[in-house]
Amino acid sequence: MNRQKSRRNFIKKTAIAGAGMSVLPNLTFGNNENQEKLRLGLIGVGLRGTNHLKNVLLRDDVLITAICDIDQTRIDLSLQSIEKSGMPKPKVFGKNEYDYRNLLNLKEVDAVIISTPWLWHTRMAKEAMMAGKYTGLEVSAANTLEECWDLVNAHEDSGTHLMILENVNYRRDIMAVLNMVRQDIFGELLHFRCGYQHDLRFVKLNDGKTAYGKGVEFGEKGISESKWRTQHSVARNADVYPTHGVGPMATMCNINRGNRFSSITSNATKSIGLHNYIVKNGGREHPNAKVKFKQGDVITSTIETTMGETIIVTHDCNLPRPYSLGFRVQGVNGLWEVDGNRMYIEGKSEPHKWDKADEWLKKYDHPLWKKYGEHAMGAGHGGMDFFVINAFVESAKQNIAPPLDVYDAAAWSAITPLSEVSIENNGEPQDFPDFTRGLWIKREPYNWIKDTY
Ligand SMILES: NC(=O)c1ccc[n+]([C@@H]2O[C@H](COP(=O)([O-])OP(=O)(O)OC[C@H]3O[C@@H](n4cnc5c(N)ncnc54)[C@H](O)[C@@H]3O)[C@@H](O)[C@H]2O)c1
Repeated sequence: MNRQKSRRNFIKKTAIAGAGMSVLPNLTFGNNENQEKLRLGLIGVGLRGTNHLKNVLLRDDVLITAICDIDQTRIDLSLQSIEKSGMPKPKVFGKNEYDYRNLLNLKEVDAVIISTPWLWHTRMAKEAMMAGKYTGLEVSAANTLEECWDLVNAHEDSGTHLMILENVNYRRDIMAVLNMVRQDIFGELLHFRCGYQHDLRFVKLNDGKTAYGKGVEFGEKGISESKWRTQHSVARNADVYPTHGVGPMATMCNINRGNRFSSITSNATKSIGLHNYIVKNGGREHPNAKVKFKQGDVITSTIETTMGETIIVTHDCNLPRPYSLGFRVQGVNGLWEVDGNRMYIEGKSEPHKWDKADEWLKKYDHPLWKKYGEHAMGAGHGGMDFFVINAFVESAKQNIAPPLDVYDAAAWSAITPLSEVSIENNGEPQDFPDFTRGLWIKREPYNWIKDTY
């Protein structure tokens, strides 16, 4: 790794140094007279990118110096918000799909947030790191094992950090349960369940005019995610969106920090949901009724870790169902299940009876949520978007390793290509590469809790 790179002059003197350490979010609202601002470029200002923009505009320690999107309407919307906030007008890019490279050439960009379609993630992130820009990357980070390695190699060759912007790791209940895990309330951990269980039929298929308009178009005729996401369901039978579920579980069991994913087996059901939706809303004669979707409607993977835990990950986005990430965290003393909002801790709960989880989650509420929860609530996705952006900005300002790093991005995203091969081979186990090249053995565990106490 190129350690010679000069650290940026906005590094805070109080930086928590050292690769692999997590960062204590350190809000600077109204108190940054002596501190330079992080100069940020946004690549992709679609639905998610403008969400990040909105949250960044609420901070006084960030200056948006450049934005890039190939869709002029998204650029116009973003410029309006920036102007309204009183921030100076940023440089604008998006003349073609590779214009982001001109943004990456700017000296006045210290960090970038990439919120583009999945197939752009790795190539943009890799080039951003090579250009020395502290990189925030939306989920999922990579599509193939080669791309997972590309991210790791770009980080190690350039010495530039990448944070995977997995907001669910910052959800209030997740952070409370992480707090319980760190305080050993569940005892030694054995088993986790999680997944992305979200009826996205109306996102993958729409009327091409509004992102959630009832319709059955996608691809060139679609809008927002239906423009690009749906094609993945046509082309791949894989868990294409694993990180919202697996990210929080991986943090709890210290993946890449004393533990690692060792192997995965995956199975898929047949594919019916999207076809039925097209027939129901567009009619049997609609051309899209002929489309063959490769992705099974419910995809179930079981991951084994080197420390002897199992993690069941589900992808379920093409069928009618209420949203749930289906979390379960289980140790020798008891377990939490998000569905049913229930907790059971031996010796504390009435034997064989569930407690309502609320009291437990309140008792172990994470100190960060206690402190900033009220402020965070307006930020989107129940507040977690505030914390993920805060962790990114604070890590980037200090130019230190982020809490969720490139090794996490690679290991979590590897579920997509590995599940694909496993499904194709009737559930045959697939080994995870060791993206840390052996360093998982001695990397320090996540210390979000230690840092805040
Ligand atoms: N963490 C979360 O909760 C969350 C929520 C929604 C989306 N996402 C992720 O965010 C990313 C974006 O999703 P979205 O919903 O905003 O999609 P979107 O389609 O609304 O936005 C993507 C934007 O990227 C632009 N774009 C495409 N190619 C480009 C290029 N080469 N150069 C510049 N701009 C380009 C598009 O014009 C579009 O405006 C995806 O990875 C998605 O999975 C995460």
